[in-house]
Amino acid sequence: MKRIIIPFLMMLCMMGLSACGNSENESDTASSVTITQTEAQQTETAEQEENSNDMSAPADTTAAPEKVDHVETTGRDTIVVFFSATGTTKGVAERIANVTNADLYEIIPAEPYCDADLDWNDKNSRTTIEMNDPDARPAIADDIVSFDGYSTVYIGYPIWWGDAPRIMSTFVETHDFSGLTVIPFCTSGGSGIGRSGSNLASQAGNGNWLDGDRLDGGISEDELSTWISGLN
Ligand SMILES: Cc1cc2nc3c(=O)[nH]c(=O)nc-3n(C[C@H](O)[C@H](O)[C@H](O)COP(=O)(O)O)c2cc1C
Repeated sequence: MKRIIIPFLMMLCMMGLSACGNSENESDTASSVTITQTEAQQTETAEQEENSNDMSAPADTTAAPEKVDHVETTGRDTIVVFFSATGTTKGVAERIANVTNADLYEIIPAEPYCDADLDWNDKNSRTTIEMNDPDARPAIADDIVSFDGYSTVYIGYPIWWGDAPRIMSTFVETHDFSGLTVIPFCTSGGSGIGRSGSNLASQAGNGNWLDGDRLDGGISEDELSTWISGLN
């Protein structure tokens, strides 16, 4: 009997370890977020600085950003909206929010991206499949943001295969940017912003979209202030 039960238990353990979904990730990323500047200032940025920004190895989602479960109307005229799979873009977004006295809103995927999903070496990984399909529109969890009352939107994302992740298309196609100045920014392992910002502008269909830029994951607030004052 033991000969049957022990191999069976071992098989069950292995199945549990190899599953892509991770219950910790799922609960961490279950809600959308708006946080105020003060809270953004208090948020640790060290986790983003630790993140590797190169393409040599698949990203490690164990450093997934901490989520803040707080929604508030603040009366500010600027908002920083971002998607970040491994925390680099989130760190930059928080610093932009600090220097512009902006609100901050994180785009959270309905189905979080696990390490296997982010493996660009795997032609069957979720991100490879999504990025190979221009019509892919991954769902967003609890998309609660409205641009009422804002005049400027910074919109940030990582570069995936030279473009914005498809979830950014989901976002821009379901929000009204009319009357807003929109400033795209991205982080990457080295690729520039390319046509990702103008692609999103076309998909949005309205708003005054600036060219935007690729920003280094470790960019300081002083450097961001200089970048912002040069925008036009
Ligand atoms: C699926 C995938 C594709 C990527 N493609 C590129 C790319 O084409 N060029 C590049 O420079 N970096 C690429 N990267 C690296 C990310 O753009 C970079 O690590 C980014 O800073 C991650 O931001 P995040 O931590 O906010 O998710 C890719 C990363 C992933 C996961």
